[in-house]
Amino acid sequence: MGGNERVQAIFADVTTALWDIMKKHDVTWDEYRAATAWLTEAGNQGYEIPLMMDVFLSVTVDNINFPANGGTESNVEGPFYIPEAPLLDRPYVLPRRDDEPGDTLVFSGSVCSTEGSPLAGALLDVWQCNGIGEYSHFHPGVPEYNLRGRLVTDDSGRYEFQTVVPSPYEIPKAGATGKLLTALGRHAFRPAHIHFKLSQAGFRPRTTQIYFEDDPWLDSDVVEAVKPELVIKLERNGNSALGTYDFVLQPAA
Ligand code: BEZ
Ligand code: FE
Repeated sequence: MGGNERVQAIFADVTTALWDIMKKHDVTWDEYRAATAWLTEAGNQGYEIPLMMDVFLSVTVDNINFPANGGTESNVEGPFYIPEAPLLDRPYVLPRRDDEPGDTLVFSGSVCSTEGSPLAGALLDVWQCNGIGEYSHFHPGVPEYNLRGRLVTDDSGRYEFQTVVPSPYEIPKAGATGKLLTALGRHAFRPAHIHFKLSQAGFRPRTTQIYFEDDPWLDSDVVEAVKPELVIKLERNGNSALGTYDFVLQPAA
């Protein structure tokens, strides 16, 4: 008969777990129809299925697949990544508007190997929201590739870019994901963060996020993605701030 053995094995376990849950809670026909309608609604909303997957399941995939053998902790990519962001020239400034909401942030650090060698020419693909929680490509009116860019480390493995301090934000909650969160009595906030994808020939690429101390949502992130190793303190001075993080990449196997 053929088929895919892994799909067969996982689907068998998924259905068995679902049947057990339905029996445990005596699921009614009304509840079954409500679940079907909710899934249909999510599918028709286009963007809601990936959002829901990222909110409820992606951290587990990340935890399963992150090898605990040194290197910067990984973190989920999330649904707001856009590939091919502009390759920036030094001095690096993430593309932004003159009146971009958010305090000025200078973010710097290094990229080195797990053996401690600085990695020159390592690529950092950076994306974030602005100071009022808006991601370009997902919020109307924000220019394409706003606060998105790619930059490389210098000869001593160091990088520095200027941007704005991102704010915490609510994930889109007008659709099926938001409806579920409301029914669960859960808020939709993520703590402020900057996303990074790091790569260098001969090393394992790393996707991660950097969070900031004292953020009110660190302990109740809707995605539950925060790891203490990825939380830094921003040095604030009036309307500007300094952040620093030293990334570590593992040699490719
Ligand atoms: C984010 O980091 O942007 C994100 C991750 C998972 C779900 C929603 C947003
Ligand atoms: Fe994000």
